[in-house]
Amino acid sequence: MNSISSNKSSHLTGNLNVPGDKSISHRSLIIGSLVNGRIEVNNLLESEDVIATANALRILGIKINKLNDKWEVFGSGIGNFYGSNYVLNMGNSGTGARLLMGLVAGSDVEATFVGDESLSKRPMKRITVPLNKIGARIKSQTNNLPINIKGNKIVLPIEYKSPVSSAQVKSSILLAGLSSIGKTTVIEPSLSRDHTERMLNFFGANITTEQLDNMSWKITLDGIPELKPLNVNIPGDPSSASFPIVSAIITPHSKIKVMDVCINKLRIGLYKTLIEMGANIKFSNQRELNGELIADITASSSRLKGITVPKSRASSMIDEYPILSIAATRATGDTVMEGVEELRYKETDRIKTVCEGMNKVGIDTHETKNSMIIKGKGPNGKILGGVEINSNLDHRIAMSFLCLGLITEKPIIVNDTDTINSSFPFFINKMKKIGAKLNFYEKK
Ligand code: S3P
Repeated sequence: MNSISSNKSSHLTGNLNVPGDKSISHRSLIIGSLVNGRIEVNNLLESEDVIATANALRILGIKINKLNDKWEVFGSGIGNFYGSNYVLNMGNSGTGARLLMGLVAGSDVEATFVGDESLSKRPMKRITVPLNKIGARIKSQTNNLPINIKGNKIVLPIEYKSPVSSAQVKSSILLAGLSSIGKTTVIEPSLSRDHTERMLNFFGANITTEQLDNMSWKITLDGIPELKPLNVNIPGDPSSASFPIVSAIITPHSKIKVMDVCINKLRIGLYKTLIEMGANIKFSNQRELNGELIADITASSSRLKGITVPKSRASSMIDEYPILSIAATRATGDTVMEGVEELRYKETDRIKTVCEGMNKVGIDTHETKNSMIIKGKGPNGKILGGVEINSNLDHRIAMSFLCLGLITEKPIIVNDTDTINSSFPFFINKMKKIGAKLNFYEKK
């Protein structure tokens, strides 16, 4: 496992692209495998997580090829997956695992899902409970992977009220519901990212979203739609863009522009929060790309103030709390993050791991079961650094602390950085190109 050292950097400048959006990439392969015919996917994120999804679909019989600069998927149509004894290794990918569980649950397939050490600790009951209700038979010892699913080709139409707001849960149920002759309804406490709904709609399914009251949203899908073979272009990932953007905001004399980023309103909570904190961020050249809004994002060095980030914003910035914490170290005053309990169930317990890392570098924090406070040092306060941080096999923890190392007095070394490839291949090269002093670190 590699380590990377991050060193104080004087200024970050330039334009860059970040890799294709991870959520949309998984969905393009999975939903692409359900259309009738061949589709092409441009700018697919070629990361370990997405490749794990491609390989699992290949095992299930779908032909997926990488051409020169794009991918092709030969969809087999809804309800045309067969076979048993499949073993699907989803690596580190919660999204791949949970979405494909939905696809298998709605097919004549029996498969066992396995994953790496981190994925094998993540909760799966939130998925197996609804999939059981639609008629799939689930076997697991612990509610964690490995999990065996025997799908049911005739899916029962259900209305499922999810206790958590999770796009993975919602999408898993909707993907199973594609094989139902009736309507499948998911109710979630706040609206989670809607890429599955947008892509199904783009391919021709009838799917509606309605706000029931201040506390819940209802998504309804008509079963057995005719999904048309259309090509998909994947926009840049706003979660990946957050690393160079926060780095530019906290590093003096910096200005960068990230091109062609997805700005779906259910994904840009971090950017709203940073602007409220005083960050110089501008969106330009807004346009639409197969059902998703995109723009170029410019960010420059900023003076930040601590704010309270309300629970209502959690689902639109769920993956961005670690990097927000890095921005918060430079703010004047406390940054309070409320209603973030879900962070405890990500690739690692992100509240615990962020707070431990912050304390090591000399930043005070406070955590409760569902909140986290970062006590900012202000624009001129010195942050010590000179420590090693373990990624805990969490790509976003690794990248976040590497961004912090750009402003600490002494370098920060992050261990187990191979995990960065699960969402952001060529992270080091892209960051170096804008002036970040990151280097592979050989341990003596
Ligand atoms: C994702 C949904 C989110 C997010 C994950 C990707 C998706 O998880 O954290 O990185 O693509 O559906 P939850 O749905 O569990 O919040």
